[in-house]
Amino acid sequence: MLVRLLYASRAVDTSPAAIEAILQQSRSHNTTSGITGILCYGGGVFLQAIEGGRNAISELYGHIQRDARHKDVVLLHYEEIAERRFGGWTMGQVNLSRLNASTVLKYSEKPELDPYAVSGKVSLALLEELMATAAIVGRP
Ligand SMILES: Cc1cc2nc3c(=O)[nH]c(=O)nc-3n(C[C@H](O)[C@H](O)[C@H](O)COP(=O)(O)O)c2cc1C
Repeated sequence: MLVRLLYASRAVDTSPAAIEAILQQSRSHNTTSGITGILCYGGGVFLQAIEGGRNAISELYGHIQRDARHKDVVLLHYEEIAERRFGGWTMGQVNLSRLNASTVLKYSEKPELDPYAVSGKVSLALLEELMATAAIVGRP
């Protein structure tokens, strides 16, 4: 039984080293637990999609909610799925500062990542477009 979960949060330490440490830890743990997904970061905000077994995702989201490296964790979307959409990444990374803001603007009022202001479906559509336009790095 596969599920997909999407949430947003605000980084506590916004340094590139802090973000990189989260990604490194995520990739090594996700490889062993069969979790795939995308971590999008921009302007101090995280948008992350995680996919995998229902128990594995439930357990990971519990850890994530208690992680002091970010705050204001909000669940945006949860669904049972037949197949993965981000199966190519143990944890793909999008750094929005490097991208053309038009992709973000297509889905929001301002050219800034603000998943708190849009629906979960819109944020998922944004992640899918970033994936389709090869804006994601970190394929294993
Ligand atoms: C924004 C963010 C995203 C994270 N994503 C993942 C992830 O995809 N996989 C993962 O194993 N840990 C991720 N973590 C780290 C977990 O919160 C947690 O530290 C990790 O699962 C280890 O938990 P433990 O230290 O309680 O064993 C993330 C943390 C943050 C702040």
